[in-house]
Amino acid sequence: MKSIIWVLYSIFKINFTMMKKSILVALIISIFLVVHAGNPKGTFTTGNKTFLLNDKPFVIRAGELHFPRIPREYWGNRIQMCKAMGMNTICIYLFWNLHEQSPDVYNFTGQADVAAFVRLVQKNGMYCIVRPGPYVCAEWDMGGLPWWLLKKKDLAIRNRNDAYFMERTKKYLKEVGKQLAPLQIQNGGNIIMVQVENEYSLFGNDGQYMTEIRDAVREAGFDQVQLFRCDWSNNFDKYQVEGVASTINFGAGSNIDDRFKKFQEVNTTAPLMCSEYWSGWFDFWGRPHETKPLKALIGGLRDMMDRKISFSLYMAHGGTSFGQWGGANNGPYRCMVTSYDYDAPINEAGQPTEKFYAIRDLLKDYLNEGEKLAEIPTNVPIITIPPFELTETANLFENLPKAKFSEEIQSMEMYDQGWGRILYRTKIQPTTENGKLVITDVHDWALVFVNGKQIGKIDRRLGENSLELPVIEKESKLDILVEAMGRVNYGKTIADRKGITKKVEIVINNQASELKNWEVYNFPVEYEFQNNLTYKTNKANGPAWYRGNFMINKIGDTYLDMSSWGKGMVWVNGENMGRYWKIGPQQTLYMPGCWLKKGKNEIVILDIETPKSTKITGIASPILNKISPDESLLHRKKGETLNLSTETPVISGTFSDSIGWKDVTFDKIMEGRYICLEALSPQNKNDKTTSIAEFEMTGEDGISVSRLKWKVIYADSEEVTSSNNAADLVFDQQESTVWQTESSSARPAHPHQIVIDMGENIKVKGFRYLPRSDRNTAGLIKDYRFYIKTMPFAF
Ligand code: GLA
Ligand code: CA
Repeated sequence: MKSIIWVLYSIFKINFTMMKKSILVALIISIFLVVHAGNPKGTFTTGNKTFLLNDKPFVIRAGELHFPRIPREYWGNRIQMCKAMGMNTICIYLFWNLHEQSPDVYNFTGQADVAAFVRLVQKNGMYCIVRPGPYVCAEWDMGGLPWWLLKKKDLAIRNRNDAYFMERTKKYLKEVGKQLAPLQIQNGGNIIMVQVENEYSLFGNDGQYMTEIRDAVREAGFDQVQLFRCDWSNNFDKYQVEGVASTINFGAGSNIDDRFKKFQEVNTTAPLMCSEYWSGWFDFWGRPHETKPLKALIGGLRDMMDRKISFSLYMAHGGTSFGQWGGANNGPYRCMVTSYDYDAPINEAGQPTEKFYAIRDLLKDYLNEGEKLAEIPTNVPIITIPPFELTETANLFENLPKAKFSEEIQSMEMYDQGWGRILYRTKIQPTTENGKLVITDVHDWALVFVNGKQIGKIDRRLGENSLELPVIEKESKLDILVEAMGRVNYGKTIADRKGITKKVEIVINNQASELKNWEVYNFPVEYEFQNNLTYKTNKANGPAWYRGNFMINKIGDTYLDMSSWGKGMVWVNGENMGRYWKIGPQQTLYMPGCWLKKGKNEIVILDIETPKSTKITGIASPILNKISPDESLLHRKKGETLNLSTETPVISGTFSDSIGWKDVTFDKIMEGRYICLEALSPQNKNDKTTSIAEFEMTGEDGISVSRLKWKVIYADSEEVTSSNNAADLVFDQQESTVWQTESSSARPAHPHQIVIDMGENIKVKGFRYLPRSDRNTAGLIKDYRFYIKTMPFAF
């Protein structure tokens, strides 16, 4: 650099007196920039109903990739696969909690080197859309927010009135700016757009919060690039943010014209973009595997291309939520599996699927001027590993780390632990009668021991918070081992603390006494911790680590078959491969070849249930759809039939066949806890099914009541085998998930009923029903009756 300046200076030295000093400086700077920038600068803006790239109309065909969900060694391959599928842009999220794992310690290296990823995208001739958060959702722990924020007891996330949240957000965005602002297209980089927040309408309607986040993004250095935000077609107009383009998210199977109808009425000259076109969907532990049909996916894409609507395919390739990164949804609590295959066109191992070829074939006819379809890159080979046994063990109770003491029980975060398992130990005094141990609350799965003997388990997913306590004869040791699953990443309850969140009580004859004086043991997820235990070769007893080796002579990707194991986590050669759980639907863990080596490889497993066998095999294809639930997925008990013969509906009526929310208002305010919607007839004559996308109760004040405590008590029929259409999907806050009655030929016909317990008596003035809005029209309700009661319904 010095030499260039020196040369330039010498050239102009002769004329120095003739030239104004400032002109000379400007000249030097611009020559310097041209020499150093390499790539030409460009522009990307919104024009009249179209995006403009360097002032020319441009249709974005983006594929979403999450670089932390892909081993760095494979980044290039996944980018090239997207290009070969017909994409011109890669869309990425940044997960704040990956980059700032403790306050002010930022990491943008290795797997977290986002600038290297974006440059790699540019090297492959593609543009980049960046979505830095602070909140991103993405089925990622806490929606990308760092867990240490939770140490502030009254934390209000995504809220401008929480000065701490805002200050931490701004600091983080500044660090992102340092990495990526130089790569804005206006600087010669490939970043064409940057997103502000994520689907904020689903959380709040404070436009001022969004405005402040917009400003923070700009101040972080993204002051030239086009900004945008994403929401849904029914809520994008809840707030306005000036200077930020608006886009809409929806999934395969949607009717494209319907989705943009209202948007176009409000934004008459805006370019149209589906910023998340969901190619598939994510899976929860204990729930059926999700897929989205190819035909629906292609149909919507074709419609968008015909209308020159820009899109980003979420996901083009989902990858894997390695380690502890998978998130959860809440109400009821359901946690994400490790695989983020997503039924996406490029599968978890980067291989093309049927969807990939169909999209490639479609998009080749819709390229922008000057673009051409790229070749499909070759993939890493798939290998198998013959069965091998893990022979060393380390019992958890024989390997307790140093204890911490606290009088009051506290959540994991308060002991400076982010993820993993935590053991709470205290003494309990003799009792004369059976009682109950009540834990408020277990996040998320606990084993309870008295004097080392397991007396039960508590599973948050099942709404459990207590267990029977036998008579305690002498002073005894109580151990509660809690495993944290994913933090909630969606909805209002993202501030999801782990371990035991409030208190533990022994309740005998309705008398509660709170337990105090805890010894606390932390089991973090870092490999170093698992490696520093004392392993022996005897049989394990209860929760334990297992260690072993396996040999390979050829490097390749494989899937570790975990189906004979209980519940836990796996580390291979020091890399955390993620969680497994026998209840499925995921039974294998994706093992990237780039983390294996020829010869001997080490594997460590922490299983907090007891495995059936300690063997593992590397197999050639994943098992993502084998569910062996430990609970009945159906909300109707065997032989149970709802009896409405003595009940009087508060209202009955007929829904129109139009799409969108239907609001029903009662004649007067009603109070009750148990509600029942009965579908009497379908919109389409020969349809035997009933379906509901979302259902809400309207409170006295006209606002929808919280559905957090809601439980489905009964649904006369549910499709939970061939697809995931369980009845509690009517209140999961996702419009694209629906309750649907069975679709087999022997399926029952109308009437169909769903009964919900709202958890407490509530005053309401009506209800709202959202019919499904995908292309599948099965189950749309026509005539209905609605009941509300303070007492349970009779069966
Ligand atoms: C929303 C979010 C994404 C992701 C998808 C579902 O659209 O914006 O982060 O959670 O839902 O996969
Ligand atoms: Ca739903």
